[in-house]
Amino acid sequence: MSSNQFPANFVFGGATAAYQVEGETQTHGKGKVAWDDFLKDQGRFSPDPASDFYNQYPRDLELCERFGMNGIRLSIAWSRIFPSGTGKVNPEGIQYYHDLFKCCRAHGVEPYVTLHHFDTPLALFEKGDFLNRETIDAFVDYATFCFKEFADDVTYWFTFNEIWADATNTFIEGTFPGGEKANLAKCFQCEHNMMLAHARAVLAFKHGGFSGKIGVIQSLEYKYPLDENSAADINAAKNEDVLQNQFLLDATFRGDYAADTLEVANRLAAVSGGSIEIREDDLVIMREAAALNDYLGVNYYQSRFLRAYEGENDLHHNGTGEKGTDRFRLAGVGERVNKPGIPTTDWDWIIYPEGLFDLLVRIRLQYPNYKEIFITENGMGYKDPFVDGFVDDAPRIDYVEKHLAAVLRAIEAGVNVGGYFMWSLQDQFSWTNGYNKRYGFFYVDYETQERTPKASAYWFKRVAQTHCL
Ligand code: BG6
Repeated sequence: MSSNQFPANFVFGGATAAYQVEGETQTHGKGKVAWDDFLKDQGRFSPDPASDFYNQYPRDLELCERFGMNGIRLSIAWSRIFPSGTGKVNPEGIQYYHDLFKCCRAHGVEPYVTLHHFDTPLALFEKGDFLNRETIDAFVDYATFCFKEFADDVTYWFTFNEIWADATNTFIEGTFPGGEKANLAKCFQCEHNMMLAHARAVLAFKHGGFSGKIGVIQSLEYKYPLDENSAADINAAKNEDVLQNQFLLDATFRGDYAADTLEVANRLAAVSGGSIEIREDDLVIMREAAALNDYLGVNYYQSRFLRAYEGENDLHHNGTGEKGTDRFRLAGVGERVNKPGIPTTDWDWIIYPEGLFDLLVRIRLQYPNYKEIFITENGMGYKDPFVDGFVDDAPRIDYVEKHLAAVLRAIEAGVNVGGYFMWSLQDQFSWTNGYNKRYGFFYVDYETQERTPKASAYWFKRVAQTHCL
């Protein structure tokens, strides 16, 4: 294998999430999620019709095939299946996903299906979401229902998308429904409970004798100390690393938490006056599941440089694309900064492909029992200029090319990576940024729902067809 050649069975695709593409959020029997009222109250943007994937999926899958993709990431909207999270099912929602998966197959595009992508049904959200252990039971029931119902349609499952993003945006950054700021204890508790739910779903899948594979998707960012010689900066990087990476990777691959992980996690939880409840029974379940995971999905967009921070909490999310407006200074944890010369997007995301390489190699070394990794999201949010009927998204091509090169280097270094899904397949609704932050291979005119392949789609097609960068 030459250094620019991907393995023969490598999957090339685009990623989507139900709430960000489907539209039809209040119709066809779908139950409510917390986002519905949250977005309405904010009045900034509506999730309807988004990319109207509920109706447009045949066109999008036709585009996938035409542009050489052999995989797609999709999620099932829990409240389309169980409108209230538990109990009565919605036959129309079930039929919709059967039709969708069938259409994937007709186009030779393998569906990689996520069960939860930030969209807990409202009825469960209102009772505490995953901080309430009843939601764990409900999730396992919903997952088991899907394993049975879609057994002939789906081979590759993911339980959750980005447990860290769900937890931090809800309890630290406060940008998701119910948003609280700087509550480190709740953030860790949410991470633990969701990992327990993941573990129980893995056991339901494996003990239920279903064929196929299952794993979880974590959003990872390498955390580097700004000054490698500063003990305080090293400590800040370690704090953030445990919060986002190590706590969840330990839970995924060990099924419990290493002593140094717990030491940092408990110290940080105490900063916000709380503690983390981890029951011995939880760990029994998680350890068994850790040995049974088939793969890990890695969502990677950026890495972070940290320096020590002793001031007040100062958190501001850049949700507009106005460069330089993002601030993350968390008392007792650290401050996110950038290093001179490292490029950023308009949303202040640090473009650092080396971080992806470092993370992949780290997983291989730190968790040698991992089996396979899929890059389940990677991509660049950009204000894509639509000029004369075309989008020349050269910065996105550059971004993806460099990250794919990092994946290739990791493969050469012995990491087993099975595929790459760019975020996103088509332009879609962004939870906290709306519609001017575009990510897709296919430009979406939200008025007409026309799709226009961007330069990146043509570029990616060649990569997918030749398996060569
Ligand atoms: C990931 C999520 O965090 O990043 C997606 O899984 C999300 O749902 C994507 O859209 C990009 O983030 P954003 O905030 O730019 O839309």
